[in-house]
Amino acid sequence: MTTPQVVVVGGGMITNDQILPSLYHMQRQGRIGEISICALNARPLKDLADSELFARAFPGQSFRSFPALGGDLDRPHAALYREVIAGLPPRNVVVVAVPDQLHFDVVMTALQANQHVLAVKPLVLTARDSLIIEQEAHRRGLLVGVEYHKRFDDRSLMARGRYRAGWFGEFRLGTACLLEKWYYRHSNFQNWCTVENSDAFTYVGCHYVDLVHFITGLLPVAVSVYGIRDRYPNGNEGFLWTDARVIWDNGACLNVQNALGFPDAAPGTNTQGLTMYCSGGDRGALIAHSDQYRGLSYCYTRQPDAPGATVYAEPSPDYFQYVDLGGPGLAPVGYGYRSIEFIMAAAIRMESETEGLEEAEALARRREAMLQIDAAGVMATPNNSRFNELVLEAGRLSILNGGREAVLEYGEQPGARLS
Ligand SMILES: NC(=O)c1ccc[n+]([C@@H]2O[C@H](COP(=O)([O-])OP(=O)(O)OC[C@H]3O[C@@H](n4cnc5c(N)ncnc54)[C@H](O)[C@@H]3O)[C@@H](O)[C@H]2O)c1
Repeated sequence: MTTPQVVVVGGGMITNDQILPSLYHMQRQGRIGEISICALNARPLKDLADSELFARAFPGQSFRSFPALGGDLDRPHAALYREVIAGLPPRNVVVVAVPDQLHFDVVMTALQANQHVLAVKPLVLTARDSLIIEQEAHRRGLLVGVEYHKRFDDRSLMARGRYRAGWFGEFRLGTACLLEKWYYRHSNFQNWCTVENSDAFTYVGCHYVDLVHFITGLLPVAVSVYGIRDRYPNGNEGFLWTDARVIWDNGACLNVQNALGFPDAAPGTNTQGLTMYCSGGDRGALIAHSDQYRGLSYCYTRQPDAPGATVYAEPSPDYFQYVDLGGPGLAPVGYGYRSIEFIMAAAIRMESETEGLEEAEALARRREAMLQIDAAGVMATPNNSRFNELVLEAGRLSILNGGREAVLEYGEQPGARLS
């Protein structure tokens, strides 16, 4: 499969904004083959197929749609992904982009069908499930890459390189925030991001917890999350404002604020950033990333159509943009693209480097490649990012217990408990 077929399970926002355009670009470069997308129903697939932006950026390219686009667009096909994955020849790639609670089933279905996996974050909701995935992938010599795209923002890689070269000493105290815009409350969030299922920290807090580990190599050991209950427009209740305290294995402390509450009239699609105070020898050190204001100020002559878009805007050139490099179409650029490409390229390499070998030898080599990826720690894998599942478990335990501290337990029986 040196040019793998790709099945994407899930046809929602992240597939539209990042995954499909990245895959289309790789397909245009001849690096991947046919793309299929399976969603719960055909409606989001029709939107993807009819997208004017994709027609302009990727002229002549298309994907196979499951369910097909004819007929009742809203009829659900909850188990269709099983058939679609079963129809894929072994050791191609399945991209998992369904709601969080479905990740485990889709990832395991893909692994049991001998497919490499690219999963959007969070891989799964418990550390125990991530361990099961790791073991299944190891048994079969398959890649599982978890797509934490902030890792591929060059500023994250710069901070990681310099931190690990000793330029900042040791992380002591930090703050991070990621607040999504208010209008999210009016979207499908109000149906699922309710107090029983999730909260603002669970949904977006993981990004900066992951980054602090990515930069420093430290591991979180305890979490407490204070959540404020608020009502969605439909009356459902959510923890729509959260303040989390994450303690690390060197005693450092990271405060993470998250919300569905950044004003719609404010510039940018959200507000976000990270500040880390460090110490080394007899000196203080600092890492400060403004991840929302990246130096661009635009003021348009009219109101753009997109939800949350403003006349005065501060667009990020870094996550995902389409640029005209002379065609054909437009080229996606940014760390959103690089992140997908990095994981896909690793799966392609694992196959091309073992092509033609006897299966026992190929399996041993694929396992070895996965262990190297794991150890390098640039791509998130079930093993090297399991702390993220532990943080989610501890965070939920804490928020549902009035913000009491929960501790993370690593090892063979990973989990979280109130301290
Ligand atoms: N920054 C990030 O890394 C980031 C950003 C956004 C979303 N995400 C993650 O991406 C995932 C999807 O989020 P989204 O915003 O695209 O959600 P969404 O609600 O827009 O889309 C979910 C998709 O899953 C499909 N789906 C649901 N049940 C299915 C089933 N049984 N079989 C096949 N398809 C099914 C739906 O049809 C829909 O197309 C979530 O895990 C989310 O946390 C990550």
